Amino acid sequence: MQARSNDLIIAPSILSADFARLGEECDAVLSAGADMIHFDVMDNHYVPNLTMGPMVCRSLREYGIKAPIDVHLMVEPVDALIEQFAAAGASYISIHPEATRHLDRSLSLIRDLGCKAGLVLNPGTSLDVVAQVLSRLDMLLLMSVNPGFGGQSFISYVLEKLRGAREMIDESGLPVRLEVDGGVKVHNMPDVAAAGADTFVVGSEIFGAPCYKDVIARLKAAAG
Ligand code: DX5
Ligand code: ZN
Repeated sequence: MQARSNDLIIAPSILSADFARLGEECDAVLSAGADMIHFDVMDNHYVPNLTMGPMVCRSLREYGIKAPIDVHLMVEPVDALIEQFAAAGASYISIHPEATRHLDRSLSLIRDLGCKAGLVLNPGTSLDVVAQVLSRLDMLLLMSVNPGFGGQSFISYVLEKLRGAREMIDESGLPVRLEVDGGVKVHNMPDVAAAGADTFVVGSEIFGAPCYKDVIARLKAAAG
């Protein structure tokens, strides 16, 4: 087991929720024990799928969702949407390095607007890009599927990458969360947690379950 100082966070990805009842679905997972709402933004350009924009984030806030909203931007370019999501009530805003020309500027913009900044790496992207910007990050998110769709299988080589990221964060001494996104289920949660993740995005495993409370309790127990 790698060192891990942060509390565990379960962040249901509402990509797999019933979009016609999004507010109720968020309430349901939060009262079932989830800690944060993961909000997947896709633009049919950076990824081949189209989901939700800042108006939906604002609507969830107006509906009364108080928990942190973890906005995962799979869009290109990113800067204008960073501003719109900050204004719409996002807590974390995470961006992919390939989606901005000026990574340092985009990450700084997120913090300047009062949000927590995240960097997201696709499975095939090396950790090398992290070293330079680690001090700009509140969250490092490692994708364990190729972005664009829920319900895909966990890519197992990402476990090794998680271990490397955990080492890098611990060596820095910085308070950066290590999040994992894609194919996380009850059955692989022990391995994913042991590799050093402290923040777990879970979509289809939660929203496809008959009882949210039961599946979230099983995910937390499996994470230890
Ligand atoms: C994929 C998204 C994920 C996805 C997770 O591009 O970023 O958040 O919805 O869903 P599952 O847990 O079903 O892989
Ligand atoms: Zn995501």
